[in-house]
Amino acid sequence: VKTPIPQAKGIDNTLTLIKEGFHFIPSRRNELESDMFETRLLGQKAICMAGEEAAAMFYDNEYFKREGAAPKPLKQTLLGEGGIHGRDGEDHHQLKRMFLSMMTPERLEDMKRIAVEEFDKKVTEWERKDAVILLREMEEIMGRAGMRWAGLPVKESEAKERAAELSQMVDSFGGSLSRYQDGKHARQSHEKWLEKIIKDIRSGKYNPPANTAAYIVANHREPNGKLLDLHTAAVELNNSYRPLVATAYFIVFGALAMYEHPETVGKLREDKDDYSHMFSQEIRRYYPFAPAMAAKAKKNFTWNGYKFKKDQLVVLDLFGTNRHPDNWIDADQFIPERFANWSGSPFAFVPQGGGDHYMGHRCAGEWMTVMVMQAFFRYMTHNLSYHVPEQNLAYDMRRMPTMPQSGFVISDVRKLR
Ligand code: HEM
Repeated sequence: VKTPIPQAKGIDNTLTLIKEGFHFIPSRRNELESDMFETRLLGQKAICMAGEEAAAMFYDNEYFKREGAAPKPLKQTLLGEGGIHGRDGEDHHQLKRMFLSMMTPERLEDMKRIAVEEFDKKVTEWERKDAVILLREMEEIMGRAGMRWAGLPVKESEAKERAAELSQMVDSFGGSLSRYQDGKHARQSHEKWLEKIIKDIRSGKYNPPANTAAYIVANHREPNGKLLDLHTAAVELNNSYRPLVATAYFIVFGALAMYEHPETVGKLREDKDDYSHMFSQEIRRYYPFAPAMAAKAKKNFTWNGYKFKKDQLVVLDLFGTNRHPDNWIDADQFIPERFANWSGSPFAFVPQGGGDHYMGHRCAGEWMTVMVMQAFFRYMTHNLSYHVPEQNLAYDMRRMPTMPQSGFVISDVRKLR
């Protein structure tokens, strides 16, 4: 007989989740000694779960759907309304194919080249300054690179502001009212700009190359033969480059890891056995970025002794799954070499979602993220010298997204020529 699924204390834990952030699910799993527990979130009964098996279940399209799962504030800021994140079945598949058609090897190389170019340009500016906040700079670099890669007609006079809108959208989740408001306004302004661009592409006034996200989204046809409605097209075009800004957080955590584990610097420089790949994977596993994903039960069914009811909310602990002791030895330690002999399970390592990129909701930008991370870590160890002054580098696990408190200040930056 299966033990009943434990229940977390509290009438509704939405505010507790916002307060505890990345620790909310892991600490209750610990306390209740169960990878699955029941609670109430957003006024409804919800199941929180973690681990490889739970992830495999969560990403099984037979049992779970996304319709109605993401909270409205998240759609108003980070994700956009009516886009791929909330779609199911054939409707999802055909949009996913659109996204993945942007990610050809050639286009991934383009992104790497563009991102490194933007990085290199910034470094020239940094050399003239005493110090810079790496996170802020990386956000702008990624924003500029993403917009260029997507084929958007960005004027230099507006590039910084448009990049800042992207950063605000990315920094908007996690429950802070002011960040929510900033993210919502940023999204409204950015979507309006994109709608105008899409109109211009459709009317032939603006002609980006046919392999760019701008062209692909503007001309994408749904199975009924119609173009995407203007607003959805803007949301999806944004979905094709905005998330690159999230990579800025991973780059900064990479800089933190290099600082706290100085032996990694030489290894990155040497890059034997693709060390920069192992290092990037470990950054994505160890450091917190996406805390969890939500779905809803597609039907009534029983799993692991628990009766799921149709439309019930289910939350998968992504961060906790990446540190699950069943899959990771010394899970709370930073050890890039663990990836040398890693089995490659699609469900035990889920920083950008799990399962299959084509059939499920796993992140369309995962390959791009890792490529850009590797290229930047190589650049930082080969082409850059900098000093890390005294500062507060602690990151607050209650804040989502989180980052070193100081944003990671570097000084005396020099390009090694
Ligand atoms: C989906 C994380 C970078 C495009 C997702 C999901 C997560 C995620 C957690 C949701 C998985 C799910 O629904 O179960 C991240 C992180 C990134 C990143 C942490 C970098 C730090 C990117 C990049 C792009 C991208 C660079 C594109 C340029 C997408 C798209 C989806 C998605 C289009 C929706 C996929 C779908 O619903 O089928 N990402 N992502 N992401 N991501 Fe990313």
